[in-house]
Amino acid sequence: MSTPTDLKLRQDTEIQGDIIAGFKKDYVRLLLLQFNNAPAARAWLEKITPQIATTAQVADFNERFSKARQASGGDDPSTLKATWLGLSFTYPGLQFITGQPDLLTAEQKAGDTLEAFIQGPADPGRAIALGDTDDNDPKFWTFGCATKPTVHAVLTIASDTQDGLDSAVAEQRVAASRASAVVVFEQEGAALPGSKKGKEHFGFKDGVSEPGVLGFDERDPARSGNFEKAHPGTRLIPPGEFVIGRQPAEKHDPGTAARKTIPAWMTDGSFQVVRRLEQDVAGWWAQVDRQLQRLKDLKAVPQDTTRDWFAARLVGRWRNGAPVCKYPDTQPADPATGSDNDFLFADDPDGLTTPLYSHLRKSNPRDGLIDGTPVDEVFMDARRIMRRGAPYGQPFDPTSDVPDNGPDAARGLLFVCYQADLVAQFEFIQVNWINDPDFPPGRENKPGPDPMVSGQLATVNDGKVNHEGLAPSGERQTSTLDFRPFVRTRGALYCFTPSITTLRRLAQGRLTGELTDTTQPVVTPQPVVAQNLPMDAVLPLPDVPGRFWTFQQGTIRLITTGAAGSTQIRQLTTGAVDDRTGVVVKTVGPYSSWPALKGVTQIDTILPVPDEQQVNGKSSYWLFHTVNGTQVYRFITITAGEPYTSQLLGDDQPLSRWASFGGSTAVTQVDAFLPVPDRRPAGDGTYWYWMFHNTSVGQRHRLISIGRSGQAHPDRMQRDDRKLTAWASLEGVTRVDAFLPVPGRDDPNGGQHWYWVFHQDQYRVIMVAHGGDHQDDLLREDRPTAVWSRQSSVTS
Ligand code: HEM
Repeated sequence: MSTPTDLKLRQDTEIQGDIIAGFKKDYVRLLLLQFNNAPAARAWLEKITPQIATTAQVADFNERFSKARQASGGDDPSTLKATWLGLSFTYPGLQFITGQPDLLTAEQKAGDTLEAFIQGPADPGRAIALGDTDDNDPKFWTFGCATKPTVHAVLTIASDTQDGLDSAVAEQRVAASRASAVVVFEQEGAALPGSKKGKEHFGFKDGVSEPGVLGFDERDPARSGNFEKAHPGTRLIPPGEFVIGRQPAEKHDPGTAARKTIPAWMTDGSFQVVRRLEQDVAGWWAQVDRQLQRLKDLKAVPQDTTRDWFAARLVGRWRNGAPVCKYPDTQPADPATGSDNDFLFADDPDGLTTPLYSHLRKSNPRDGLIDGTPVDEVFMDARRIMRRGAPYGQPFDPTSDVPDNGPDAARGLLFVCYQADLVAQFEFIQVNWINDPDFPPGRENKPGPDPMVSGQLATVNDGKVNHEGLAPSGERQTSTLDFRPFVRTRGALYCFTPSITTLRRLAQGRLTGELTDTTQPVVTPQPVVAQNLPMDAVLPLPDVPGRFWTFQQGTIRLITTGAAGSTQIRQLTTGAVDDRTGVVVKTVGPYSSWPALKGVTQIDTILPVPDEQQVNGKSSYWLFHTVNGTQVYRFITITAGEPYTSQLLGDDQPLSRWASFGGSTAVTQVDAFLPVPDRRPAGDGTYWYWMFHNTSVGQRHRLISIGRSGQAHPDRMQRDDRKLTAWASLEGVTRVDAFLPVPGRDDPNGGQHWYWVFHQDQYRVIMVAHGGDHQDDLLREDRPTAVWSRQSSVTS
């Protein structure tokens, strides 16, 4: 792919990919993480850093994507898919991971943007300035405030598909929990469905006007000045406005504290603002109708003026994105007008066409400011932000019976933006433009705060907004309107998005100094194949010996071992002689590809119902999984042969329904079951298991039995918890994830029983003797799980 040589930023492998290139995905999730163990968090960071998307990777993908789209006449290419990761830290997060309470010198801390970063948006002084008072007060937030757990890091996961997102999220949740990090909040974001795609919840096309970047986007040769090719009207802004340490805008004030004091480790990083902005769609449109009626009552507009006409004045664009300044009367039919960014406001100084209070003129006044004479648009370059948000929640649909579409369901804009200076860019727009009733300044009648998005409407200027226009009589008329807020802040964070080098240093617990490992390559994120992944659960196929489904971090795979009889497979395995390790036959799909796993993101263990295997062509299972930190279980069935259709029978149930889960420590987290070899069933028809479960003092195991009484399976605790040290074969294991009988080595009629024991990203082979006191022994030392299930070209 040919790229003009002056566009060096397109090859950059230091700057994270969302900042300049932009992930631009339909499905996004932010995992807000809190670390609890600094060494574990650093080890996690070391592993995840090579997976963080760089500018070069994202730029290359986006370029291929848009070329394929052009070639297909505008359709999204179905074969080009990617899932990207981005990672940012709050100031407490950096303190935790480095173990240093003070990361900045006194002089640095006095810098505006660093002070903002340290304080965060919930700081009382900042919250007042930002308009986060009254209904927007941090005490109502779902994250980022004193009453909620401290957020240390924001992991952005963005994908082209829901399945891609789900499996990446499941994988990252497991990786985080293994590093003792807690997901304190999961914030979703997704393009709205169907014809609403690309729009925000009020119904307007969003993300139209984004800055171009010098050195990244191509300059328009047909136009003088810094304008982006093929994006008429889009200014190319110097990268230093979005990335620290790069060239800033020409009109940037070189004296701002942020420039003088920013430390070297922030080079090639960016500040990320995250805001959960709740939108009351029904309330907002009712207000549009009320205020339009007022304009009609005041005879400021013709009586047949439509609500869409007035709503477009509040935004500055029609629903399809077409700018009001160019198409003042009605929304043009040509969809191409929706991307039009080639306009200025100098010819409309009083806002007679595009009101001064419109969201567009409040968030980017272009050349519409007057300071004695009109202010050149170039002065706005240093105020631009890179918006990367997405809607969250389901669209409002008054005709739908589904509660998620109702007026009270949570929905809004997950507002995310990047900039080099929090104060001079995001805060400036929010505080000095959006919230300030006197902006644009110097007008006889103050325009008022931004009536579409300012959360301060009720308190600033008492909600008064002045609409200037030519009345039907032809007279110039000022009409005072009265707005209330229908956008509310429900969470906010200020984060720092470090360069790849700084991430690597942080993984070594510091911010400066030589990296001890200087050769770590940048690894392109790959689809998850059999890697050294922890084994969440593994299930033998009911009808084919030696075949298993594995469940690892959101992905189901089919594995076969030598017992299936293929010599080709046996050759490919390392341990066919003894424990018949397997090869991956195929990736079945994400958890969501099985109907029985609906809503499941983290599987903990699956127990076959002992007397319901291959009964009437089906096998039944109890599946234990974790939802928002609480383990529950459900009952599922799988048909005995291809295509192995799974079915969910009933809702998730609490663990308290298991009588055997009481005991000295109530069971809250079942990890694995190991069948007792000579009690499958015991003489009285009950099936016995050692059940391994996690407790606050480590993993314990207890003995339980499961009987049969009609449809019910009464369970009993046969012996209370013991430590893992009771098992010689488990020496060195802190937490077992799964047990699996080794095919052909599990003789119910006596002798030895071999099991694979999966723990973390390792597995070992153990033996449990039949009868007596079930003496156990370690047969084979730990090996990585990738050895147990390896990729192969075998397709049978
Ligand atoms: C729920 C809240 C919000 C909604 C529904 C919203 C919606 C929109 C829409 C529909 C546009 C026009 C399309 C476009 O040019 O991309 C837009 C543009 C924009 N918004 Fe917002 N917005 C919200 C909050 C904010 C906030 C909090 C900020 C910054 C503090 C902001 C900054 C901007 C900027 C800079 C533009 C581009 C203006 C231009 O260059 O013409 N928005 N927004």
